[in-house]
Amino acid sequence: MSLIESVKRKKEFSMLPDSIVERALKESGEDVKEARKLLRKYFGVFLTNRVLKGRGDLLGIHISSKKRDYEDFYFRIFEGMDKIRSVVDLGCGVNGFSYEYLRDVIGDVDYIGVEAAGQLVELMNKYFEENEFSAWAIKGDLFDIDGVVKILEKSAKPRVVFLFQVVDALESMERNFSKKFILKVMEGCEWMVISLPLVSLGGRKKFEVSRRWLVDFLEEEFIVEKDFEMFGERILIFRR
Ligand SMILES: C[S@@+](CC[C@H](N)C(=O)[O-])C[C@H]1O[C@@H](n2cnc3c(N)ncnc32)[C@H](O)[C@@H]1O
Repeated sequence: MSLIESVKRKKEFSMLPDSIVERALKESGEDVKEARKLLRKYFGVFLTNRVLKGRGDLLGIHISSKKRDYEDFYFRIFEGMDKIRSVVDLGCGVNGFSYEYLRDVIGDVDYIGVEAAGQLVELMNKYFEENEFSAWAIKGDLFDIDGVVKILEKSAKPRVVFLFQVVDALESMERNFSKKFILKVMEGCEWMVISLPLVSLGGRKKFEVSRRWLVDFLEEEFIVEKDFEMFGERILIFRR
């Protein structure tokens, strides 16, 4: 059995992309237990049993989405924006379950969610199919930037990319990756919406001004149209 397969014998990691497991193994010096520990630290908060088993209101259970009132959230984001044809939601978690709210606010739109946790991808696709929504979830690793670019190329224009509560995860895996990532992704979309939690997901630490580097970078490279706080998140909306 390969080391990747050994790590994936634990149910919660069984459906992660191999590239993510491989990276954890590399970082842990090829130690299976250490790799699982790293993955648990990185994904554990999101992949709780309740979320994985898919019971009940997933938006209300998942740690990043449970505080949002999606109707207000999407209204505030899209207010004043021209007609959008696709939303590409990177590191989407269970956000796909908010498709109806999205459609209520901006009308018919394609939704494409990219997420590492295969279990969430399956749950969302089942929901999309059952409701015949114009929506898809794709299992993928955001560190595969070319893969992300291909998804954007296939999406109808104008496109909005969501990067909700994902920057910290990317940065914890590779420092400064998000700048490179945002620059590349922005070549393939018209708008991007980033959200940053104002307190750590565990609820204790206040982030305050720690994201200055990101805001400075966005202001230098793009036109930042909106910057506001809502439901414990800072939302930044920008375009090329
Ligand atoms: C804090 S949650 C945010 C979920 C969603 N964007 C939201 O705000 O409701 C971060 C999500 O990013 C996913 N994720 C983290 N690293 C990833 C990667 N390298 N590739 C794809 N998804 C990733 C996690 O599995 C998790 O669902």
